[in-house]
Amino acid sequence: MTRAASPDLPASLRAALEARLQGVSRNEAAERAGVISKTYRDGGGSTAIASETDALAYALARMPATYAADIASLNALLDVRPDFAPASLLDVGAGPGTATWAASNAFPSLQSFALLDANEVLRKLALDLLGDSGHSGHISYERGDARTLLAEADAADLVVASYVIGEMDEAERALLAHLMWEKTRDTLLVVEPGTPAGYARIIALRQQLIAAGAHVAAPCPHDGACPLAAPDWCHFTQRLARSRAHKQVKGAEVPFEDEKFAHVALTRAAIGQRPSRVLAQPVVGKAEVSAKLCEPGGLEIARVARRDKANYAKARRWRWGDAVFLN
Ligand SMILES: C[S@@+](CC[C@H](N)C(=O)[O-])C[C@H]1O[C@@H](n2cnc3c(N)ncnc32)[C@H](O)[C@@H]1O
Repeated sequence: MTRAASPDLPASLRAALEARLQGVSRNEAAERAGVISKTYRDGGGSTAIASETDALAYALARMPATYAADIASLNALLDVRPDFAPASLLDVGAGPGTATWAASNAFPSLQSFALLDANEVLRKLALDLLGDSGHSGHISYERGDARTLLAEADAADLVVASYVIGEMDEAERALLAHLMWEKTRDTLLVVEPGTPAGYARIIALRQQLIAAGAHVAAPCPHDGACPLAAPDWCHFTQRLARSRAHKQVKGAEVPFEDEKFAHVALTRAAIGQRPSRVLAQPVVGKAEVSAKLCEPGGLEIARVARRDKANYAKARRWRWGDAVFLN
């Protein structure tokens, strides 16, 4: 792996979030976070986020996990394209600014950040957090429907939609995908929850945009159809630490959580040799390591025998989600 960014929220962002919690009842924040999370589970999207307390409750409860998933997806992109140095970012459905934070950590080259979202209270919170923490770069945040705003937006080197496309129906999603790709100068990254439904949305968008000329940078080592068949689905997991405020708002005791996510990074230029992707935690046995890999030619259970010393030493260190080359 190249310069991997940490999955935990940057200290300045965590401090800015916790400072906003001063003077807000933690019980109320926890209660609102519970209502918002139930609305998501029932398919209601971000509609329950209507007040400043709601926005803060949402950010405290969910931003650490969506940030971690964004970072893991950006790290996967960096593995394949270590020289990618975007100057501009378009964060579609930016909410509290999660993907903007993640991308600016993964890519110090970023200088301009354009954020779009329909939700005014999340927009305000994002701008407050960026301001409080002294985030640098040129920042604009437009409020409105992403499809309308995208028509007016400048193209960017990197376009990201983090946990957004699940909030629309199929036709709206296809239109959004088309508009985001039109504004992508180099790379489009889409991240979704790592559920079968989130994966299905990623696969549909991937197929739509490959047909429009896109190439996959990550996680797939090919532009062909996904070789996984239901009930299997491609997803990854990222562990993240829970701060005290995060635990309080979620009513949780465990000091970490594992966020499951699905993602795809699509580029304008074809990628040269792409690494295979480890699709589950490998099993390390005495005689061999066995690992489920997505390879350029399709799905394979790789068995690396102990007697193959060099490869065995490498394979013992493989983790779910890693990009690997076999000799
Ligand atoms: C689950 S939140 C994710 C926010 C942020 N990207 C993150 O990863 O934390 C989804 C966001 O998409 C926004 N959104 C959904 N549909 C939208 C649309 N049609 N136009 C603009 N924003 C939209 C919501 O307002 C909300 O802020």
